[in-house]
Amino acid sequence: MNFLVSAPGKVILFGEHAVVYGKTAVAASLDLRTTLQFNELDGQNILLSMPKLDLKITVSLAEVIELSQNSPKLTEEKHEEFYEFVSKFVDKLQYSGIQKLGLEALFYLLIAVTQSESLEIKPFSLFLDTKLSIGSGLGSSASFAVCISTSFLHWANLQKNKLTKLDELELQKISKFAMGCEKIMHGTPSGIDHTVAIYGAVIEFKKPDKLDPIFGVKTMEILLVDTRVPRSTKDLVAKFKELKIKFPGIVDAILDAIDQVAQEALKVIRKMRTLDDEDHWRDLGALVEVNHGLLASCQVSHPALEKICAVARENKLKAKMTGAGGGGYAYVLLPPGVEEEKVQQVTETMQGYGFLVTRSSLGGPGVKID
Ligand code: MEV
Repeated sequence: MNFLVSAPGKVILFGEHAVVYGKTAVAASLDLRTTLQFNELDGQNILLSMPKLDLKITVSLAEVIELSQNSPKLTEEKHEEFYEFVSKFVDKLQYSGIQKLGLEALFYLLIAVTQSESLEIKPFSLFLDTKLSIGSGLGSSASFAVCISTSFLHWANLQKNKLTKLDELELQKISKFAMGCEKIMHGTPSGIDHTVAIYGAVIEFKKPDKLDPIFGVKTMEILLVDTRVPRSTKDLVAKFKELKIKFPGIVDAILDAIDQVAQEALKVIRKMRTLDDEDHWRDLGALVEVNHGLLASCQVSHPALEKICAVARENKLKAKMTGAGGGGYAYVLLPPGVEEEKVQQVTETMQGYGFLVTRSSLGGPGVKID
């Protein structure tokens, strides 16, 4: 059994951080994808290769089967206990940092799918690669979790001679597995990252269960700008929370304002499906700047992100940080008909500051099995 699974990264257009507190967010899939090549093998081993994590490891099948037989049953309440059990097993493999996290995610999902789908674990190889840069707010961990969950689910179906239809029921299963895995990575994720990796398109998202893919949006283009400043989503979410605890009146008002921005943006984006006239793009651009300002006022921006917004503004374009902030990425909105010369000039200026610039179109498909 050999197959290929892929899932997109995401960009949050509006509403990051506020989404953690139950406000509306708007996200879109990127045309940068994670791919997973799965092969069943002969022999007695499991081979795992994740080049972006600099990880290549062989694990004995017998040990993994023992792990799955002895592990506690994964339930909502027993998530921590289950995770600790998997984590102890990974400790023995003697990796640390991001490699350890990658292995924890993998074994967490393997055992979770084994329990819930009666998967029979056999020797296999898994090659996981991505066009996304790791840990920079583009949803790389979520796209990993979605690719791995989908692969094991598909494997379990193949073992039962069942065709995997990625219908709503199956997508919800993938979402549940991936959410558990994202908790390992990010503490208290909103779920927006793996939702976009699963559904693609442009998505209206609100915890706990508002999930409205907006299909048929005309191609939206952006410049994705990587500050190359490393940061941790977990730390930034914690920093935002500290500010909210210290100044609840102020931060709650800002969260409400971000919610309004996202709602207004959704109205514009829905209108743009049938008519993308200049006024709509102007409104969307204004909302991009307002949202950036609100986030910056909550101390999750960074001088490099401010620089990007300033360069965009000097060229009459609109930019905003995306994801947790503190470094990571910003995006610059490219309205249709924007002069190529201008895009080139902005790109070169940003590169001159040491940033990495990628042109990307938004709203492509979610998880796929080939
Ligand atoms: C991270 O991509 C976006 C945050 O809103 C956190 C989350 O939604 O889990 C900062």
